[in-house]
Amino acid sequence: MLVTGASTGIGRATAVRFAAEGANVAINYSRKTAEAEETARQCQAARTRGGREIIVKGDVSDEAQVKAAFAETLARFGGLDVLINNAGIQKESPSDEVEMADFDRVLGVNMRGAFLCAREALHHFVALKKPGVILNNSSVHEIIPKPGFVSYSMSKGAIENMTRTLALEYAGRGIRVNTVGPGAIVTPINDAWVHDPKARANVESHIPMGRVGQPGEIAAVFAFLASDEASYITGQTLYACGGMTLFAEFRENWAS
Ligand code: NAI
Ligand code: BGC
Repeated sequence: MLVTGASTGIGRATAVRFAAEGANVAINYSRKTAEAEETARQCQAARTRGGREIIVKGDVSDEAQVKAAFAETLARFGGLDVLINNAGIQKESPSDEVEMADFDRVLGVNMRGAFLCAREALHHFVALKKPGVILNNSSVHEIIPKPGFVSYSMSKGAIENMTRTLALEYAGRGIRVNTVGPGAIVTPINDAWVHDPKARANVESHIPMGRVGQPGEIAAVFAFLASDEASYITGQTLYACGGMTLFAEFRENWAS
């Protein structure tokens, strides 16, 4: 299996979870080699059922780098059965002041990058006439608008339609495509509130379960969706968000 953006956060936790299950894990990263090596070290430590990990560098928004990362993974593992499109970034700005370079970068990584990797995985599955699984990391912001993050919201909305389109197009060939929609998870993307008790309490006030999530709780959903336990599920987004998509603000009767 290959997981993109696996040098930190949810991607790292997912790589470690799959390593614990005995999978061969390709750890993709784009910038900090030391972080990818730490993921590899944690994968090794988690293994009790064999398998091995490799590190494959590549910016998911760059076609040539994606092709190279897949070629290296296929050459070293001899095949691929699961892709997890996890890499993602966000940039905050009032929508009327968005810099188009930032907009293009967010869509380039979150949307174009996810499709480039999905396309490479599909090439492989189709060429070998073999079943496969493609999973995407979206967000509650696939459906909850996120003011100040319009490019991020747009990119995650696009993931839903990519999931449904690819799932429909390839269902007859044994290829399943699904998405996980996490809520607020303790990872580096959330450094702004993770280490600030007041900001964190504000985030938690929007979550019906009253707490933020841990990366391992998202990795577990990826493990389920990749497994045969999910053999009849395709084209879906499974939200793992402590109920955030249920709109915490409406938990008390307010209108009648
Ligand atoms: P993170 O910032 O730790 O992880 C993002 C990873 O993507 C990093 O390792 C980063 O280096 C990598 N990345 C960025 N650009 C890349 C590129 N061009 N090519 C390859 N890798 C690249 O944060 P987190 O939370 O683990 O994010 C992972 C995914 O989860 C993202 O898609 C994010 O949108 C999504 N997500 C996170 C939530 C959260 O609350 N932490 C909630 C909902 C979704
Ligand atoms: C964002 C996080 C945010 C979470 C819940 C994620 O998609 O990347 O910054 O905390 O959604 O709103």
